[in-house]
Amino acid sequence: MIHVSCGIAILVLMVARLLIRLKVPSPPIVPKPKPMMTGLAHLGHLVIYLLFIALPVIGMVMMYNRGNPWMAFGLVMPYATEGNFDLVDTLKSWHITLANLGYFVIALHAAAALMHHYFWKDNTLLRMMPRKRQGN
Ligand code: HEM
Ligand code: HEM
Repeated sequence: MIHVSCGIAILVLMVARLLIRLKVPSPPIVPKPKPMMTGLAHLGHLVIYLLFIALPVIGMVMMYNRGNPWMAFGLVMPYATEGNFDLVDTLKSWHITLANLGYFVIALHAAAALMHHYFWKDNTLLRMMPRKRQGN
């Protein structure tokens, strides 16, 4: 169940990053983008957090409600004594819709990062690389 273990790992990473983000401020972008762009970026990041937290949680609830043993990281995970297949069907369609939305948002996100680097020529991308960030 590579899909399941990777999905749960993404959930852990997203929550960990969100907690770190709330505690530790990111280095400033130089030159400073317009306030509207910063607002849009924050909104976009919020959408990414919500999507990639909701998606694996829905996946886990789905597996639980199938009522069969399932594994993550080689461990047997909790499962319902009886399957609830109506719920599983609904969650499955949500899971697939959110996953497709997620891929679209990530493509936009990566394109925005490249725009920062090559078009607006600011330090957004380089800030993520501690060695290259010196001097900004
Ligand atoms: C960010 C994390 C995840 C992404 C991007 C993702 C993406 C997807 C996608 C695109 C599908 C549809 C595959 C198809 O075309 O049938 C799918 C199906 C599914 N996913 Fe995930 N998934 C994630 C996390 C999880 C987690 C954590 C679980 C369970 C613990 C899970 C359980 C499932 C299940 C049960 C299906 C339905 C499989 C089937 O019955 O065909 N997913 N997922
Ligand atoms: C080619 C791939 C990617 C590139 C070039 C990229 C680049 C960046 C950059 C430059 C930032 C900093 C933006 C800022 O602080 O204003 C950022 C932030 C972020 N990225 Fe990506 N990213 C990529 C893929 C991903 C993926 C796959 C995810 C999640 C599934 C993701 C989730 C996030 C999140 C949640 C933030 C906000 C971080 C924070 O809260 O400080 N990114 N990304």
